[in-house]
Amino acid sequence: MLPSSLTSLFGTIILAVPAFSANATDWSTRSIYQLVTDRFATPNDSTVPCDAGARKYCGGSWSGITKHLDYIQSMGFDAVWISPVSTNLEGTTSQGEAFHGYWSTDLYSLNPHFGTADDLRALSAALHKRGMYIMLDVVVNHLAAPGPKFDFTDFPKPFDDETYFHRRCFVADSTDTGNQTTVEQCWLGDSKLPLPDLNTENPFVVEKLIDWIPKLVQDYGVDGLRIDTAKHIRKDFWPEFVKSAGVYTLGEILANDTSYAAQYTDVFDAILDYPNYFQLRNAFLNPQGQFSSVVSSMNRSQQTYKNGLFRTASFVENHDQPRLASLTKDPGLIRNAMAFPFVHDGVPIVYYGQEQGYQGGADPYNREALWFTAYQQEKPLVQQFRILNAARKEAIEYLPSFLTTPVRPEFFSSIEDHSMVVSKPPMLALFTNIGSESPHGLTWHADAVFQPNEQLVDVLTCTKVAADAQGGVTIPCLYGMPQVLMPAVALRQGGTVCPGIATGTLAKSAGLPEVRVTWAVVVVSTLFFVACRGRWMW
Ligand SMILES: *[C@@H]1O[C@H](CO)[C@@H](O)[C@H](O)[C@H]1NC(C)=O
Ligand SMILES: *[C@@H]1O[C@H](CO)[C@@H](O)[C@H](O)[C@H]1NC(C)=O
Ligand SMILES: *[C@@H]1O[C@H](CO)[C@@H](O)[C@H](O)[C@H]1NC(C)=O
Ligand SMILES: *[C@@H]1O[C@H](CO)[C@@H](O)[C@H](O)[C@H]1NC(C)=O
Repeated sequence: MLPSSLTSLFGTIILAVPAFSANATDWSTRSIYQLVTDRFATPNDSTVPCDAGARKYCGGSWSGITKHLDYIQSMGFDAVWISPVSTNLEGTTSQGEAFHGYWSTDLYSLNPHFGTADDLRALSAALHKRGMYIMLDVVVNHLAAPGPKFDFTDFPKPFDDETYFHRRCFVADSTDTGNQTTVEQCWLGDSKLPLPDLNTENPFVVEKLIDWIPKLVQDYGVDGLRIDTAKHIRKDFWPEFVKSAGVYTLGEILANDTSYAAQYTDVFDAILDYPNYFQLRNAFLNPQGQFSSVVSSMNRSQQTYKNGLFRTASFVENHDQPRLASLTKDPGLIRNAMAFPFVHDGVPIVYYGQEQGYQGGADPYNREALWFTAYQQEKPLVQQFRILNAARKEAIEYLPSFLTTPVRPEFFSSIEDHSMVVSKPPMLALFTNIGSESPHGLTWHADAVFQPNEQLVDVLTCTKVAADAQGGVTIPCLYGMPQVLMPAVALRQGGTVCPGIATGTLAKSAGLPEVRVTWAVVVVSTLFFVACRGRWMW
């Protein structure tokens, strides 16, 4: 008994990369950078050509990522979500090559295009050495068929039999949530590129998957999992899977419906907050868009999700959705939308290339190679993410209740929904969709938010603002840009955020509410003319 368990314990220690075994609480302070391995960095830094529209492998690798961790970390991200790692369909299909990794043929081996097992372990170890987490994207719902006509015995063991798959029928639209049996048991893909759906009602399949996931986690020192197509497997499959994985799980529930998504907040540590994403995109990118629908959608999430918005991850771009800059050219609208996830209860996610102003449209154009940018740091959005990550960390340090106080979004209806004020003490974010070239300006006003006459700063521009005698603020919007206000005392002297203005010395621990913890925000915004004329340069 003893010798054999010692051996296996010893074996684990030798072979596996030490992980942080991170849980939801550990992840709550984190900030995630999402990347597509094939498109982030080449192993030798050559700027090989890459036509995103061609849907072919371009040559990015795990060792390429390892070489560019300074770039990611210097923006303040402390977790990296990489695209799926398992062996995929080889060769070309009606949808091109499997460079994105979502067409697994074998869960038990690694995709040789991205490097070796040692390269992946080296990436994981390099992240851990920096105190950063690694999140793997895993596809459990389906495998990819080797061709339109195939035999189930073509699949490698253990899933080399028809009985391990659901009967063939196709899910017409991956965003459809109409008939749940169809969603769970029919196949994604189409007759040209079928993605046979693993029969997760079959106990053999369940046992294999439950057994596979902790090994993957241990082998590569994984700290968290992003679960692809999670709504396509019955909900009661997930709790045992999640428990077996033993790390944080972030489920992809592609749905534009808070009550549908809410059901999955019971089975995962967190979900990608798709329902609010659809509302956000509409409100932020369009001067006719309505912040009132963002506010009511967030409120529905707060009332129906387990733990409200705390167990979500908030994003405005990913590999499945068109980039914001493909939907608008207005830098003001883009800057507002991209700041939103940082003043939120959930974990912020930024999709690689957002920071460089990439403009690709829907899949496959939103999966551009990043090496053409030379990983430049002197870009306005790189700077904005660096500031927001640092400010969020300082907010958490100053007022740990940042992690437990629900975000409060408010809008003021009589100005046609052009502004939204989001309070998340010690942050107050002022958003607008008025646009950078609007001939009109607007003024945000919030009552009784801060201490009377308190010194505040917009962390995005390091502009000083004083709270009024009632602790309210009245601030004109400039060039349609967002503002994120924090008390100067909440920013650490010697820190990186507005160092000339920061007056904070010690982290505030519990019980010293210099910032009122329950903020009564009353927004009274008014339009006035000609305040915001001018063009903001990138
Ligand atoms: C550098 O990496 C690219 C992409 O992986 C590859 O195509 C190319 O052959 C490599 N060049 C050299 C000199 O190794
Ligand atoms: C849902 O789809 C399944 C098969 O995918 C079918 O058997 C069932 O009748 C459908 N239910 C409804 C209510 O349409
Ligand atoms: C999401 O649902 C809302 C209604 O709740 C609708 O107005 C909006 O167009 C939908 N968005 C998408 C992308 O389906
Ligand atoms: C959501 O809306 C309800 C009713 O309008 C309100 O009572 C509640 O305070 C709101 N919840 C949050 C978390 O803002």
